[in-house]
This record gives sequence, C-alpha cells and structure tokens, in this order.
Amino acid sequence: SPKKDLAGKKILVTAGPTREFMDPVRFISNPSSGKMGYAVAKTAWYRGAEVTLIKGPTCIKPPYGVKVVNVTTAEEMYRAVMDECEKADIIVKSAAVGDYKFATVFEQKIKREGKGSLQVTLEENPDIAAEVGRRKRDGQILIGFAAESHELLENAASKLKKKNMDMIVANDITAKGSGFESDTNSVTVICKNGRMVKLAGTKEDVAWGLWDVVESEFPA
Ligand code: PMT
Repeated sequence: SPKKDLAGKKILVTAGPTREFMDPVRFISNPSSGKMGYAVAKTAWYRGAEVTLIKGPTCIKPPYGVKVVNVTTAEEMYRAVMDECEKADIIVKSAAVGDYKFATVFEQKIKREGKGSLQVTLEENPDIAAEVGRRKRDGQILIGFAAESHELLENAASKLKKKNMDMIVANDITAKGSGFESDTNSVTVICKNGRMVKLAGTKEDVAWGLWDVVESEFPA
C-alpha cells in the first residue's frame, strides 16, 4: 500500500496557463498543459493529503479526490490563491502565470482597420508566488517552479530567494521531453539550504520524487 506520509496536510497546488484577454475573442497565453501541476496534486492526494487544485484553462481531466477551483486570468488566480493559501500547510506553484496583461481590454471584438499594425500596451500582473512568500507564516512551506530557457540554476535560485520560497523546481524548457506539454520532465529541485536533487521521468515520477524531497527536508 502507498505511504500516507502527507496525511493530515492541507496542500494547495496551482496548475496550467492563464489567459490575458485583449478583447472577447483574443488572448495571450502559454503552452502549459497542466500535466505537471496535476501530477503534483494527484501524488499528494495519493500520499494522504487534502488537496486543492487551482487551475487555469486545460484540456486534461482533473485528478480524482482533489478539490478543483477553475480560473482563467492571472488576476483570478491571484484572488483564488489568496483565498486559499492561509489554511494551506504546503503551497506548490506549478502554474505558468502570465506576467503581463493588456492595459485596456476591449469590450467588443477589435476590427481590422487596414492600418498595417496595432499598438497595444501590456502591464504587469501581480506576482502570486511572491505575495504568498510575503504572507507566509511560520511552518508554511512554499514551493515554486521556474521555467527557464537559459542559466537555469542561477535564475531559479534567484527566484527562490526573491520570492521567499523554501524550494524551487528548476525546469529547463529547452531540453527534449521536458517542460511544457510533454508527459515527461527533467528538473533540479533547489532547497533553501542549497541542497540540489535531480529528478527525471514521467511527470508523476517527478512529482513523487518532489514529495520525497519535501519529506526529507521537512520531516513531519
Ligand atoms: O503544464 P505543463 O505542460 O505540464 O508544463 C509544466 C510547466 C513547464 C508549466 C511547469 O513545470 C513549470 O515550470 N511551471 C512554472 C512556469 C513559470 O511560470 O515559471 P516562472 O519562472 O515564470 O515563474 C516562477 C514562479 O513564480 C512559478 O512558481 C510561478 O507559478 C510563479 N509566478 C510567476 C509569475 C506570476 N505573475 N505569478 C506567479 O506566481
């Protein structure tokens, strides 16, 4: 029988992309499928945790046993996470949150005007993980992900520090069979104390290994 080492723990997981709308039919987003975050939620439930999954628009079926909260935009995800994070023991931010939104969202579909170009202004979305890091209370554990295309470990380690995380999963999105959309992943988990653990396999293998690292860093 599987180990139930997360029994009694309340775990909040975010997954998937966000959509930032320009008008009712156009948005910017990213290729996140939600697979990595779903695997984190599924394995946490399997190991006994009470799991809430806050997810952006995805096509895959939510894992059994977890409470699902659907959101679309980064601002909606921000509000949902702020509503849920206080009661969580562990917060895992696997979502690929849009860093920018349109400064103006048009109510009607924008018409093609034959001017050859269209100027838009983007403004920054709130950084959800950083705000959770600010509000974090004693004993709460914040785990981030970092999708990087260069200087993987340096960039991930700096996000860990800047956002007051306890652990970050550095995800090289340029490696084959790793990162967005694939069923497999290859990552380096960086702990606050400098310990590094490499994990590779299916996204469920990686999620399972991540919980093993959590278990050894923060024994119950
Ligand atoms: O969904 P899949 O197809 O399975 O793909 C998995 C994945 C590549 C999306 C996943 O493994 C991953 O790396 N997720 C994090 C992607 C990301 O947004 O990384 P980032 O380096 O931009 O952000 C760093 C951290 O801050 C992340 O924990 C992110 O959730 C968080 N963040 C970022 C921006 C923002 N406005 N708010 C945030 O909370």
